[in-house]
Amino acid sequence: LKHPILIQGAMDSELTLLIQATAPHKFEQVGNFRFWKGAVADTPVVICKTGIGVINAAAATALAVQRYSPRCILNQGTAGAHTRALAVGDVIVGEQVCYLSSFSTERSRGEDPLNPWKPAAFQSPEGETISYHANEVMLRAAKAALADEPRVTFGCIGSGDLWTRDPSSLQALHDMHGTLCEEMEAAAVYLTANNLGVPVLSIRVISNNEGTGEPFDPNSALRAQELTLKLLSFLHT
Ligand code: 5AD
Repeated sequence: LKHPILIQGAMDSELTLLIQATAPHKFEQVGNFRFWKGAVADTPVVICKTGIGVINAAAATALAVQRYSPRCILNQGTAGAHTRALAVGDVIVGEQVCYLSSFSTERSRGEDPLNPWKPAAFQSPEGETISYHANEVMLRAAKAALADEPRVTFGCIGSGDLWTRDPSSLQALHDMHGTLCEEMEAAAVYLTANNLGVPVLSIRVISNNEGTGEPFDPNSALRAQELTLKLLSFLHT
């Protein structure tokens, strides 16, 4: 029996197309976590609604790995841009994920857009880098699958329980961590997958850019699912 590919989305709007495309034969629910078992071509697929935020995403990922022993995890959905160079509809493939919900303060407040709370991501007190990594084979598949797509960037996804609106804060996060965008699940998914030894990759479509003033576009969730289906056909060999 083939191990399934686990595909995740946080909200219904990020899952409807995927559920349609994988024609589920079974729906399973554990508490508030929902799973749809289906297939694309000959590849079994489990779709998982994680819910919003890193806590939900961590629990949903651990549960799904235990229940379904997926061969890999494809996390997908929307994200907000961290740089004015990105436009709504652009695609980000998460080579790394930087966790942005880790904070510390200085002993005194200065003239800084992020004070008093400083994102402490990437650095442990010992100066150790904290970032989580995508699987190399999945990254290569994504490069092949998305080769003919416009405006695809491979790089670092910022992730945490946050929604940053102030343009100077967005710029500061981008300058500090090199993050291209922010969303609310990938850090938990990557960390859990890395800890459990399951290959993982997140692809995100920019749905809003507070820096340029581009408002949230619900079509971004559809594009993320379309690209996920495209990538799926490069993964199931
Ligand atoms: N900041 C944080 N999360 C965002 N999302 C889309 N845009 C942003 C943003 N600018 C995603 C998160 C979450 C949902 C609210 O949308 O991943 O699941």
